Amino acid sequence: MARISVNDLSSFKQSKKRFTVLTSYDSLTASLFDESGIPVLLVGDSAANLVFGYDSTVPITVEEMLPIVKAVARSTTKAMVVADMPFGSYQTSKSIALESATKFLKAGAQAVKLEGGLRVAETVTHLVESGIPVMGHIGLTPQSVNVFGGYKVQGRGEQAESLLQDAKSLENSGAFAIVLEAIPSELAKQITESVSIPTIGIGAGSDTDAQVMVWQDLVGLTAGPKPKFVKNYLNLREHVEKAVKDFSSDVASGKYPDKDHSYE
Ligand code: KIV
Repeated sequence: MARISVNDLSSFKQSKKRFTVLTSYDSLTASLFDESGIPVLLVGDSAANLVFGYDSTVPITVEEMLPIVKAVARSTTKAMVVADMPFGSYQTSKSIALESATKFLKAGAQAVKLEGGLRVAETVTHLVESGIPVMGHIGLTPQSVNVFGGYKVQGRGEQAESLLQDAKSLENSGAFAIVLEAIPSELAKQITESVSIPTIGIGAGSDTDAQVMVWQDLVGLTAGPKPKFVKNYLNLREHVEKAVKDFSSDVASGKYPDKDHSYE
């Protein structure tokens, strides 16, 4: 069976079939999500925080992202694998953007994602014309955290119109989908109705064409306070913590390994 393509996502939008996108950064989750029928796996630059321990997505590099993209691509057969382009890998020039994106496609991704609207429009056109499908990302774009002065909801009041223009310019530039992050639900609805390409919400309410979630948020593995839009479908952190403590105390008391877990 062929992988999910940009045409499949476009027909999902036309037939109003809502779909799911999950992040993935390793072979085990990639194959599990692929087998579960998740159509799009995003190797997010959120790997910066979740894999590499940086305090934002700004420091991660193409070289750090590439092995993760390769692992996810190698471990899947059906999902579209989208590689997030790190901060600094596409802003300098269109040719540097093409060079970076090419590395991700050669690593096995079928598409790339980059942050920004109007300001990256020419870059998007250049990549698409070079044969690279591009997913846009507007609203709270974490690579711009230092400009925003924190992780804040975007697109309220007068900002709404410029986000709408950003979405339209991504569509006109040939992007195949747009992530809408942390914007008011009403604006996300308006953008979704104004563009012919799928919108993928994260903190953008229920009227987008798809929803994306960081998988560790979905299963309750992430520590600390969670953004309003995160819904934990499991409390995995609690379960893992308990298992680790039980293992430790069984080792200390000599309960593990018992005969059932030892060779004759
Ligand atoms: O890097 C990431 O995980 C993302 C999603 C949250 C959209 O950009």
